[in-house]
Formats: sequence, structure tokens, C-alpha cells
Amino acid sequence: MQEFEGRTAVVTGAASGIGLALVEQFVDLGMRVVMADWHEKTLVTAAEDLAAQGADVLAVVTDVSDSASVDDLARRAFVAYGDVHILCNNAGVTRPGSTFEATLDDWKEVMAINFWGVLHGMRAFVPSMLEHGQDGHVVNTSSINGLVTTPQFASYIASKYAVTGATETLAAEIALIPGARLGVSLVCPAGVATNIFANEIDRWSTASIELVGDETMKRFHAYSDPTRTDKASPADIASAVVRAIKDGTFYVLPQAAGAATNGLRARMATITAALDGDESKAPKSIVQAPGMN
Ligand SMILES: NC(=O)c1ccc[n+]([C@@H]2O[C@H](COP(=O)([O-])OP(=O)(O)OC[C@H]3O[C@@H](n4cnc5c(N)ncnc54)[C@H](O)[C@@H]3O)[C@@H](O)[C@H]2O)c1
Repeated sequence: MQEFEGRTAVVTGAASGIGLALVEQFVDLGMRVVMADWHEKTLVTAAEDLAAQGADVLAVVTDVSDSASVDDLARRAFVAYGDVHILCNNAGVTRPGSTFEATLDDWKEVMAINFWGVLHGMRAFVPSMLEHGQDGHVVNTSSINGLVTTPQFASYIASKYAVTGATETLAAEIALIPGARLGVSLVCPAGVATNIFANEIDRWSTASIELVGDETMKRFHAYSDPTRTDKASPADIASAVVRAIKDGTFYVLPQAAGAATNGLRARMATITAALDGDESKAPKSIVQAPGMN
């Protein structure tokens, strides 16, 4: 997709972090942007700030885990702006907890937002994006942890692997549609300086803390600090997304170094060695420190 001026983008999780950075870059490209988030106060403040600077934005309070709410978002977007050209299914949450120890409520909530939220977005928008026939792009936010695992964020990782699978499938399906002008990208950031982990820090259970140990918890607290300067900024990720939309790139992996990225390389080497029937070539371990990319 090359033309952005006057086109419309929809971004979920638009009130903060990577979502807000995406909105800002789309606005800079001359786009009209529908900003969706369930956090009404933060959303409205962000939209008002952008509108005061001349941006054409519409804030729609949306809970992506609720299909009716996302269908309503689509109706509001179509009424306000007509055709939608870019859809960013970005809203997400994390919850600490192992596969067997995280509560079922946490499992359900994380899957409902991170996986079902993306699915609701695709179902509400993709048919009309194919039907209008203009250039368009679907951007689904997974994570480096949608490609490689790390202990203690079991529900997050399972939800992000599900986003990876659904998005790879969408791209394969669109490739089969003759003349379709809809690109697809899967965004897999590693550590980004946002509030996502800081929001969750009080949710660690005593059992999880005992399992990972005090030293790891200390490192996790430090890692979760949204002001850390050794992490990528939300704007770095948004710039990588805009480049991917322009170039038609599917995998957006903006961080080439770091523990999780090394883990991903080790995972791929392990799978290749298994495929080749030569496990002596597999790295010894693909396990990462809990929660640190
Ligand atoms: N920050 C990182 O290190 C990192 C790494 C990999 C992937 N990601 C992914 O990037 C995406 C954006 O996260 P972020 O880091 O900018 O965090 P963030 O917490 O700053 O932003 C997430 C936004 O999603 C919104 N949201 C949460 N649940 C929602 C719901 N049910 N309906 C609507 N909005 C909802 C929140 O209110 C928030 O504004 C997430 O999908 C996250 O998993 C982040």
C-alpha cells in the first residue's frame, strides 16, 4: 500500500503505547483514524489532544473481547469515514502465571482480549476491506512470544501463538483470492517501553513468585519499568509497521537482538534439526528467563 493521504485506519488499543504511536504515524501520513480502546478517559484525552493539533480522529470506546462491541466499532467507522483501508488489531494484556497455576479466569480473559479480540476485528472489517477493492492492510499484533516461549506467561504466550496462527492463515487465504489488494502483517515486538507489564506487576501470585525466585522478580520489576531506555520505543515499532505496510512485509520483527530473539533463533534451529533428523545440531535449550526479552 503506497497511498495514505485521506484513507482511513482503525487502531485498537489506541489509547496508549504502541497503539497510540500507530495513530500518530497514520495521522502524520494524512490519514483519518478511528481510535478504539476500552479505557474511556485515556482514549478521549488522547483523541482530544490529537484533534487539537488538527488530526481527523474518531474515538470509539470498544471492548475487543466483545464481538458486538467490535461490530459496533465497524459500523461507527463506516458511517463516519466510509471505507476502511488499514486495520490494526493491537489491543492486548498480559497476566503472569504458569500453564498449570494461572487461574482459569486469567486464562479466559487473556484469550478473550488477545486472541478473540483479533478475531473479532478480522471478522468485522476484512469482508468489507476485500469488497471495496482498494489497497488495504491488516496488521495483527502478536509478539516475539507468539513465536518463542518463555516461562510464567502461559496464557499470554498461548494467546499470541493463536494470533500468529490465525494471521498466517488469513494471509494464505487472501493469497488465494484473485486480484485481492489486501496486505497482511504480523507484528512481533520484543521489549517495548509501555505500561503493559507495569500494569500487571501486582498480579503475580505467591506461588509464581516462589517458583521463579526473588532475583528473577527483581529483574522483572526492573524490566517492567515503562521509562527504561534500553527497550524499543512505541514509535520505533509503529515506524516498522508503516514500513511493512508500504513494502508488503508479513513478519515484522523490529528487534534483531535480545534474549527472546536469540530464543527464537534457537527454536528455529531446533525445529530444523528435528526435520532433518539430526538432533545433534539442535541448540541445548530454548528456554528464556521468565518475562524478559
Ligand atoms: N510492550 C511490549 O514489550 C510488547 C511486546 C510484544 C507485544 N506487545 C503487544 O503490543 C500490543 C500493545 O501493547 P502495549 O505494549 O502498547 O501496551 P499498553 O498497555 O500501553 O497498550 C495496550 C492498550 O490496549 C488497551 N486494551 C486492553 N484490553 C482492551 C480491550 N479488551 N478492549 C480494548 N482495548 C483494550 C489498553 O487499555 C491499552 O490502551 C499488545 O497486543 C501487546 O501484547 C507489547
